Amino acid sequence: MDSPLIVVNFKTYSQGTGEAAVKIAAACRDVAAEAGVTIGVAPQLCDIYRVASQVDVPVYAQHVDGVSPGSNTGHVMASCVQQAGAVGCLINHSERRLNLADIEASVSAARAEGLTTIVCTNNIPTTAAAAALAPEYVAVEPPELIGTGVPVSQADPDVVKGSVEAVKRINPDVQVLCGAGISRGEDLTAAMDLGSVGVLLASGIVKAEDPRSALEDLVSPL
Ligand code: G3P
Repeated sequence: MDSPLIVVNFKTYSQGTGEAAVKIAAACRDVAAEAGVTIGVAPQLCDIYRVASQVDVPVYAQHVDGVSPGSNTGHVMASCVQQAGAVGCLINHSERRLNLADIEASVSAARAEGLTTIVCTNNIPTTAAAAALAPEYVAVEPPELIGTGVPVSQADPDVVKGSVEAVKRINPDVQVLCGAGISRGEDLTAAMDLGSVGVLLASGIVKAEDPRSALEDLVSPL
């Protein structure tokens, strides 16, 4: 199996906030080094600097707006996220949806700062639209499976396969991740078998009693 990209989204879980975010990020760093894979983390925006300055791990923002420096209040500027230590960002997560024009503005703003862009999508047509914006990754996640522990690779393999095919047709440079309900090594293997290059996951790690051993299970097939 090729080495996958794994990104753990801390959402607003209390288990992944503040000092707890640093602890889970450190577990991601250690398990990634042992398994020889890349595990990125997406803590809350206010925790980006805390995590990035204490742990040598790729940090992703959970959201970026398409704003430039200037008169904007309450927005997330790509340059600020980059200066805080992030290497990339999620855009259009199902829990932080944007319209198409805003997604394009966010992707452009993030790209201008050298951030790796992961545009989240909820189905095949949205994946196709996202691929046209040329992010580095699209991450397809059926919202109804998020947080359920039922892996997308098992419950809806066609949305992953269809997304991979749509992306190939529209922009073969874009890579596909999948997510929702992923937590075990076998889910990662199944996701890769369906053509994705990695996974975006959250509750299976962040809410686990022992996040480190949950991560070890996730990477065990590698
Ligand atoms: O961003 C990851 C996500 O929405 C999937 O969540 O808890 O099903 O792994 P979860």
